[in-house]
Amino acid sequence: MRIDKFLADVNLGTRSEIKKIIKQKRVRVNDEIIRDPKIQVDLESKVYVDDSLITYQRYFYYMLNKPQGVISATSDTSARTVLDLIAKKDLVKDLAPVGRLDKDTTGLLLLTNDGQLAHDLLAPKKHVAKLYQALIAGVVDEQTCESFAWGLILKDQTQLKPAQLEILSVDLNKEQSLIQITISEGKYHQVKRMFGAVGMKVLTLKRLKMGNLTLDQTLRPGQYRPLSMDELAMLKQS
Ligand code: URA
Repeated sequence: MRIDKFLADVNLGTRSEIKKIIKQKRVRVNDEIIRDPKIQVDLESKVYVDDSLITYQRYFYYMLNKPQGVISATSDTSARTVLDLIAKKDLVKDLAPVGRLDKDTTGLLLLTNDGQLAHDLLAPKKHVAKLYQALIAGVVDEQTCESFAWGLILKDQTQLKPAQLEILSVDLNKEQSLIQITISEGKYHQVKRMFGAVGMKVLTLKRLKMGNLTLDQTLRPGQYRPLSMDELAMLKQS
């Protein structure tokens, strides 16, 4: 691989910024200061910039606790996007959210530049399970759980796959229910439309799990961190 690609992949700047760093004689490969952005390096090469050893990494994976009010997109003309929450040093090329959460939905959102993994996690055939916690306006009962387990038909006649609905608590005075739901599809506004189909409304929605990846509860809304090696390995098995 060319040294300028190596340095671009680890987010040390654009190709032209990197060219400049090289020209300034700030890049060393093994024991030699290099001047040519085209020279080849391999994974054995020791690459230094300003005497700091650079570890090569092609793909980056971040777990974000998405706050309300930001959209799951890479750019938008007016709204803030999840990429606006990522520090410049972590903003690698092609970083994008894996799937979408609604603007008002919070919780687990994976961001990566690994297009293949993103594709695999979103492929309808894979049925990767997503777990959400929601506050519902309405009294959810065993009958609701059963109809979700059979596979609901939405108002527009879309037939859904079975979903597991678990009641955590019901406030009969307020007529509100706290539930958890696992779905294995990713249809537009799916959870909201499912409760709409049974005459209820989702008041708050938070994703807790995607496949084998669980939201780190120590992340405050808007915070993110890289996945651990174990989390990544587990996610790949989802
Ligand atoms: N279902 C929804 O209705 N909204 C989301 O953001 C995710 C799942």
